[in-house]
Amino acid sequence: MLDESIQELASGYLARIASVQTPAELETIRIEAAGRKGALAEISKGMGKLDPEERKRIGQVLNAAKTQIQTALDGRKGEFDEKALRERLDAEWVDLTLPAPGPRRGHLHPITRIQRELEELFISLGFTVLDGPEVETEYHNFDALNIPPDHPARDMQDTFWLDGGKLLLRTHTSPVQVRGMERLGPPLRMIAPGRVFRNESVDASHEHTFYQLEGMMIDRDVSVAHLLYFMKTLLTAIFKREVTVRLRPGYFPFVEPGFELDIQCLICGGPGCPVCKQSGWVELLPCGLVNPNVLRMSGIDPEEWNGFAFGLGLTRLVMMRYAIDDIRQLQGGDLRFLEQF
Ligand code: PHE
Repeated sequence: MLDESIQELASGYLARIASVQTPAELETIRIEAAGRKGALAEISKGMGKLDPEERKRIGQVLNAAKTQIQTALDGRKGEFDEKALRERLDAEWVDLTLPAPGPRRGHLHPITRIQRELEELFISLGFTVLDGPEVETEYHNFDALNIPPDHPARDMQDTFWLDGGKLLLRTHTSPVQVRGMERLGPPLRMIAPGRVFRNESVDASHEHTFYQLEGMMIDRDVSVAHLLYFMKTLLTAIFKREVTVRLRPGYFPFVEPGFELDIQCLICGGPGCPVCKQSGWVELLPCGLVNPNVLRMSGIDPEEWNGFAFGLGLTRLVMMRYAIDDIRQLQGGDLRFLEQF
């Protein structure tokens, strides 16, 4: 009798084990059937009451049932484990034969690009490209450009002084004019692109760090007509279209006469915006004929030679060409901005 009910119990469990769908269901059945407090364990506990013959027989039936159930449990568990492993392998599969993506390609900053275009243009016009130090002497940045220590023009360029004076971060690229004259002498055709620094508060149109491109030509009988020819050639090459310009008198101690060449704002086209400070015009090209004092200080005889000089605002030019309305973008390093070029 007892052995029959053991077999019935066992085949009930075996059927449930066979039809189980998840590892959790299987675990529930394992506890119910083969756990320490499970159905088979309960029967084992009651065996003590049986007489020895009966106990031996029932014991065998019970053990056979236990083995069957355990085998069935192990079998299903193996199935589930294998399925889980296969799913994991599928999910983690990597195609090792695919080509690697490699490093992402960068590109030149818009300022560098315009700088290089201008270098090519001026090289084609017979100019040399010169470089100068960003940490300059007071002499090259000011004195040799006809700006002596007490001259009010020094206040126009808020200066980062270094080392308690004498050395500074150059406030313009004009000191390279001086270095060019000292090193190469006349006749001279040179440009000097580079980074300059001013101790200013930063807003949409002012940065403490920006780029200029200096130009200088020294020869015999150079006139304002030559200056204008080169300035117009430069602007046409950059903007590849007609730009409206105006010439105003401008004061720089190292040129005489001096001019401010403005272009009509290409961002707003005239009515006014933050870049042109609501004026419709953007100061782009201060220029003039080289002051004889400057030539003399660099050892050039102003009776024999004269010339023109200009200081193009490269940063501003880039802003005009690409319609960038905030100068802070250019040095900000934000890839979302840079990737647009
Ligand atoms: N160096 C001047 C500045 O930065 C610009 C300039 C250069 C003016 C050459 C005239 C001639 O303000």
